[in-house]
This record gives sequence, C-alpha cells and structure tokens, in this order.
Amino acid sequence: MAAESKSTDVSEVRMEDLVSLCARRGLIFQASEVYGGINGFWDYGPLGVELKNNLKSLWWQKVVRERDDVEGLDSTIICHPRTWEASGHVEHFSDPMVDCRACKKRFRADQLDDAGRCDSREGSSEHDFTEARSFNLMLRTSLGASEDAASEAYLRAETCQSIFTDFKRVREASRQKIPFGIAQVGKAFRNEINPRNFTFRSREFEQAELEFFVHPSERESWFEKWLELRMAFHAELGFDPARIRTRPHEADELAHYANAAADVEYHFPFGWQEIEGVHDRGDWDLSRHSEFAGKDLGITDEETKERYVPMVVETSMGVDRTVLALLCNAYRVESLEGGETRNVLRLHPALAPLKAAVLPLSKKLGEPARAIAARLRRDWNVFYDESGNIGRRYRRQDEVGTPLCITYDFDSETDAKVTVRERDSMAQDRVAIDALPAFLRERLEGAE
Ligand code: GAP
Repeated sequence: MAAESKSTDVSEVRMEDLVSLCARRGLIFQASEVYGGINGFWDYGPLGVELKNNLKSLWWQKVVRERDDVEGLDSTIICHPRTWEASGHVEHFSDPMVDCRACKKRFRADQLDDAGRCDSREGSSEHDFTEARSFNLMLRTSLGASEDAASEAYLRAETCQSIFTDFKRVREASRQKIPFGIAQVGKAFRNEINPRNFTFRSREFEQAELEFFVHPSERESWFEKWLELRMAFHAELGFDPARIRTRPHEADELAHYANAAADVEYHFPFGWQEIEGVHDRGDWDLSRHSEFAGKDLGITDEETKERYVPMVVETSMGVDRTVLALLCNAYRVESLEGGETRNVLRLHPALAPLKAAVLPLSKKLGEPARAIAARLRRDWNVFYDESGNIGRRYRRQDEVGTPLCITYDFDSETDAKVTVRERDSMAQDRVAIDALPAFLRERLEGAE
C-alpha cells in the first residue's frame, strides 16, 4: 500500500469545528433536534455512546473493581423528597438570577460578562436588568394522579444522596469496615439558568461519584490521597499535562456541604473549567439524614467501641464534561504534505469508540474481509467499510479516532497478510491474518 504523507502542522481546537464534527459523525448532537432542539439537553449517537461507555467502564474498573474497599450502587433518580430537605438542596441549591426587562432573557447574575447585547431596547443595546434573586436549580416533578404539594418530588441534582441514605444497608450487606467507599454512575438534573458551551453546562448530565467514608482522624489524608488518585486517572486517559490542573476552592466558593474542596480543571477552548470536584463533606450528609429520617447512621468501631459518624471524602466526575474535555484534548486539524488536511481524534485506544476498521481494497474482496471483521468483533468493536477510495475511508476513521485500519488487498489473497495502518503516525505494517488478534491486543491494550 502507498504510504501517506506525514503531517506537518497541528492547529488549535476551535469549539465550532468540534461541535460540527460531533453532529456530522453522530457523536453528540442536540436532543429533540427535529423540533428545533431543547436547550441544555444532548443526545449521544452510535459512536458517542461507545466513547461515553468506555469512559464510564474505565472509571468503574479503577474506582470499584480494582479496589476491595469500594462497593457499587445503582439507585433511583427520584428519591424520597425529604432527602433533598436533609441534603440542604431545597434551601441552598440556588444560583443568583436576573432578568432583562426588555428582551425577557434570563442570566446568571455572576456571569453577566457573557450576556451579550440586548436586541429589544430602543436607543440602547444594554440590557435592563432586574435585581438579582435566588433561583433553585432542582428540577421538580409530581408523582401519582394528583398534582398537589404532597405529590411533589425532585429529579436528583447529584447522584450521591442515595449513597448516604443507603449507607447502612450497603455497609452491612457488604460487611465493609471504615474506611470504605460506595460508588455510583448515573444521571443528574439541574435546571441551569444558562446552559452553554455545548455539553459543558447541561440540564441533564451524568456523574461518576464516589463517597469514601473515613474516621474523623483520617479525613485530611484521604482527601489528599483521593485527589492524587483522581489526577493519576486523568493522566492515564492521555490528557495533555499542560491542560489539566487542580485548583483548591477559596472559602467563599465552597458548597454548603463542603469543608474543603479542589476542582480538577481542564483548559477548554473557552478557558479553565471544572470537570471533577473532590470534596471533604465532613459528616454533613450522614448527620443530616440521621436527623431528618430519625435513624442513626453512625457506626461503632468493633475494636475500640468508639461510636462516631464517619466523615466523607467525595470524588465527583462529570462524565459529559470529561468526554468533552477528552474530545478537545484529542481533536486536531493536521496539514499534510501536498496541501491536504485531515481531522483526527487522537483518543487513547481504550476510549476510542471503534478499535479498528476493516477495509477491503475492492468490493470484490468483501467476503474474506468480512470474515476478518467477524473474527475481530468477538473481542473488539470493529467497523467494516467497503465504500469510497481508501484514502477517504482512512480519513473517515481518523476523525472518529479509530486507532487501526486493516486493509485487505489483492496480495492478501496469496500472502494471507493485511496492511495495518496506525491512526496517529499513519505508519503501515504488513501483518499475517492469523496474527491479527495478537497484534491488535498488543497495540490496543498493551499501549498505556
Ligand atoms: N456531589 C457533588 C457534586 O455534585 P458538583 O461540583 O456540583 O458536585 C460535580 O458537580 C461534577 O458534575 C462537576 O465537576 C461537573 O463535572 C459535573 N456537573 C455539574 N453540573 C453540571 C452541568 N450543569 N452540566 C454538566 N456537568 C455538570
């Protein structure tokens, strides 16, 4: 196979290009698109769902499966409404909001720099803002046939509250002792005043949360330890170290439940922004649920007989935000020799939605090429494509991050070998068909 010309230039990511790539290739696009979309809601298409699932399984693998001190949970999105009174969300989970009296748009009072111009005022393009007032971000729904106050419930604003209310049950069932954690991945909902920056601030999103219960004397050391472990996780995903950092919270930005907190931030095209929070929640949640539910959620140390309420160190990763950061981190528009350009997603192989594509050089070679794809699909998500010239087929795989393209050509019929082309270097190897599973395993799974 003719080798491709090497890339010579790497350009900065432009958000609009990435958003358009995501829509065009069915990674992520507006929810309810045929109705004009719905602000703050996004759908993940065939390749997007693979990417997101890969991130969630890596997280589950590292945080739950590889540790004997963490248990998993899958709890409901709607919890008893008292949960949210006890957690403090009904009272405190608000953003300051202002309205423009002229154009009627709503803004977060702490983000007015991004409000733009008012297009409804005569003689001025400035907005005519009301005083700021508090807007609760919990999304409400009602249960059962009646719609009175007694039937009101909330969609969870964070996944962790059930971890606290289920704490006693999970601890007893799993026979865990302090320190140990409970982890959960799932949907959360916030009625954000101004959803923006693609999926970054959505109204429906996913969190991967761990609540780690510790003795009060160990809260600081576990906070440091989990922050370190989380940064190691992000490093393994392949983030550019210059674009990821931790930032401790100032006292005046701490959430109502947090004694200390640090954000993991990524440098997006729209600036440094949080993708994950690590929080020292103290005994806030267990104590409040003990009080509101009238059930003691404290524990007794079997050896010392000490009775205490465990302290909680939380790690809360936004799945959608991390996917977005990974896409920004991986996306390149590269100039090739000869004036051509290619879009590439340089995703870690473990995250790539497709691991390989099998491409027969001619449709006449379809049968043996399909047999190769079928064999490899037992182990990996493999795509088969026989339409268009080979260069165009490579480009289609590059822009969705497929690490390897396997081309079956006329020589394959006699030498029983195929050409395997690597996404980033575009280097090509001739590999025996029988050796393909071992070759892929080494390239996809051996590569850290
Ligand atoms: N249980 C703690 C908690 O929910 P948080 O800092 O409010 O803490 C944790 O949220 C993570 O959830 C954030 O770091 C972010 O990645 C994600 N997240 C929060 N609000 C979001 C939104 N509106 N859209 C997308 N992701 C969001």
